[in-house]
Amino acid sequence: MDLPRGMRDLGPADLAGIEAVRGAFVRTARLFSFELMDPSPIESLSTLEARSGPAIRDEIYHFRDKGGRDVALRFDFTVGLARHVASERSLRMPAKLGSFGGVFRYDEPQRGRYRYFHQWNVEIFGRPCAEQEAEVIEFAARLFEELGLRVEVRISHRAVVESFVGRACAGLGPEGRARALADSLRMVDKAAKRGREELLAEYRGLPPGLAEGLLELASARGTPDEAAAAAGGEPPGAWAALRELWASLQNRGVANAAVDLGIVRGLDYYSGAVFEVFEAGTGSAALAGGGRYDALTGAFGRGDVGAAGIAGGVERAVLAMGARGAPPPAAGRVSVLYANGQVMASAVRLASQLRARGVPVDIDLAGRPLRRQMEAASGSRRAVIVAPAEEAAGQVVVRDMEARTEARVGAGDLLASPGAYL
Ligand code: HAM
Repeated sequence: MDLPRGMRDLGPADLAGIEAVRGAFVRTARLFSFELMDPSPIESLSTLEARSGPAIRDEIYHFRDKGGRDVALRFDFTVGLARHVASERSLRMPAKLGSFGGVFRYDEPQRGRYRYFHQWNVEIFGRPCAEQEAEVIEFAARLFEELGLRVEVRISHRAVVESFVGRACAGLGPEGRARALADSLRMVDKAAKRGREELLAEYRGLPPGLAEGLLELASARGTPDEAAAAAGGEPPGAWAALRELWASLQNRGVANAAVDLGIVRGLDYYSGAVFEVFEAGTGSAALAGGGRYDALTGAFGRGDVGAAGIAGGVERAVLAMGARGAPPPAAGRVSVLYANGQVMASAVRLASQLRARGVPVDIDLAGRPLRRQMEAASGSRRAVIVAPAEEAAGQVVVRDMEARTEARVGAGDLLASPGAYL
């Protein structure tokens, strides 16, 4: 009658906690205009190996089905959602998809680490831009706020470590460089959890000085400027990307974010910005993690589709929440539009401020023309339009989408009592 190692029954109290997080996740997904779906729980083994190779077999449940097919249980939602989007050529971009449910991993069981657990997950597919990364981070920040958890967000970019390793391995062939890079990413990923001497011993095969240099790099923290100075002014592309992400997080009012070059993420599919969320001041395991992974959609034959997302461990959030109850529901939907690129940042900020007041808001992230934004907003109850002349006068235009009437409203008045205008 014993359960297999690492498996457990979820009792009523466990399930109540999971349902409280599910409720908050579904409400937050509506606030940010994510559509929910449930990708297949069983995949072809080859799909899960698309980016990671056969090494992933050690970390997942896989088996041969009765028809002789090699299949595996999903270990996250990202791979399944990316496979789905890659195969649905008619899907309209950008696509914002979310999922909530159980996943399986052959992890070593311990407190907060299980072989079957739940994840909440959001992904944005489409032409890559830093606003997508900022949007999923803001999503996580709002979700944890609704769950009553105080968190800190740590962001980095894989290219920082990659270019550091590239320079140290200039003398090696392509295979040697690839191996050194994989080892370096693994080492940086472990830097926060393991002792310096232990790591230097484990990675003594790396070229001279690289392991020591990586440990120093992994300890760089702060604003992008502070971290760049600590890292010795590393590659311009990655820093420009990090600065852009940073600026958008500031613009959206996401507090408690910092650059932490020790974040590289354990999964193989990331190709740009990476981030993790921790409960503030506890030093406990990550509540959520994510990043940009254009290489995965590329591996599924859609090099034209970029992707960024984030997922969190539901049981870990429940552990952190303790006995807190479920929060209140949110209302209908509003679109924030911008007349041109000049006022886009103001519009993104206004959207963040409205969401913070519980108004469910959609906004175009890709800088598309007003006409396209207006088309996309046709299903909304109200549109709030930010334009240069009105902005100069401290005003926005509120459009009733059904009655097709418009009124100028003071931006301060709108934020003070959104319910009166929306
Ligand atoms: P991940 O970091 O492997 O990323 O998992 C996300 C979160 O799931 C972790 O931060 C942690 O809270 C939770 N988690 C992971 N493993 C376990 C476990 N064995 N037991 C309990 N909780 C766990 C991903 O899964 C990516 N798919 C995230 C992503 C989305 N990247 C882009 N989009």
